[in-house]
Amino acid sequence: MKSTKPVLRALAGEALPVPPVWIMRQAGRYLPEYRATREKAGDFLSLCYNSDFATEVTLQPIRRFDFDASIIFADILLIPHALGADLSFVEGEGPRLSAITGKSDFDTLKGADDIHETLAPVYQTMRNLSSELPKKCALIGFAGAPWTVATYMIAGKGTPDQGPARKFKTEQRAAFQQLMDLLTEATINYLNAQISAGAEIVKLFDTWAGCLTGQDFEDFAVRPVAKIISGIREKHPEIPVIAFPREAGMGYVDFHEKTGANCVAVDHFATPNWAAQNVQPGGCVQGNLDPVHMVDGGADLVSQTKKVVSAFSNGPHIFNLGHGITPDANPKNVHLMIDTIRGN
Ligand code: CP3
Repeated sequence: MKSTKPVLRALAGEALPVPPVWIMRQAGRYLPEYRATREKAGDFLSLCYNSDFATEVTLQPIRRFDFDASIIFADILLIPHALGADLSFVEGEGPRLSAITGKSDFDTLKGADDIHETLAPVYQTMRNLSSELPKKCALIGFAGAPWTVATYMIAGKGTPDQGPARKFKTEQRAAFQQLMDLLTEATINYLNAQISAGAEIVKLFDTWAGCLTGQDFEDFAVRPVAKIISGIREKHPEIPVIAFPREAGMGYVDFHEKTGANCVAVDHFATPNWAAQNVQPGGCVQGNLDPVHMVDGGADLVSQTKKVVSAFSNGPHIFNLGHGITPDANPKNVHLMIDTIRGN
């Protein structure tokens, strides 16, 4: 039977009169109810690994905004953690891991098949959501793409330009490839388990794809994502996939063609008209309102939202921001965006 969930219809290639909508980081610090649950949980990782709290924060934006999709609350860095890397989140600064300077720094990690014990609470959260979400709301599982996860593992933290990972990739090619292969296999296992637990869609976040150029983009953004997609489709042939190679620029076109993703998520540096003309012929596009409008609101929010809706209206489209909503956003602006999309 064909799905009636609007997001699944768009992913199957249908152009809908009103595009379905959800936003990246929809469960986050801009919501007072998220901050309250996060406080109860203690630190960020305890929130990710407590299925009751993680279910609660995932559902909060659905209750408040009636989004068409729900993305499970977790983090892309849970995979390195499940492989045995030490991970912590420093308040106001972001993730910390021990940096990788050579092969010996990751030789001690577990194998790609040994991640499930640590990640069991994530699968439980997925099962909870699967039974608690409203009927029209699709459930999205996710993971980081290997390159983006590797950039944090190598640097041991977030960096402005991914310098340490780019240097490691050039200077220690064989070790780098081995790390990418481990992450690729672990990600296939993780996503397959999420799908078995109830995910109806999976999304791959390649937040730092834009700093790979030329053949490296092909080798370390396109190829691992294509491999993950074929790995999960061996077990789940029908699973729709959204992939987000952020700041890929012209690379979005190739990426859509070569990875087998049903949908490419486009950041706000690509203009909607360009993306509609060049990326949408390859299939569904997700995006791409500048998240700054969730802070500023007003007439610009309304006109830019209409511009995005109109640019993509002739093909399959899922409305989203070009990147995650920021902690200083005003929830009222999210309502205004949704009302503008739905014509309320
Ligand atoms: O609502 C959702 O989108 C689902 C949950 C989700 C989180 N992180 C929760 C989170 C998702 C899909 C992610 C993905 C993620 N995590 C990415 C890729 C997408 C992107 O935004 O580019 C990346 C690069 C990470 C790694 C990560 N997690 C960083 C760099 C940080 C610190 C930066 C920050 O915003 O503080 C996190 C922490 C994090 N992950 C928060 C949330 C809600 C904020 C932590 C908090 O509550 O203190």
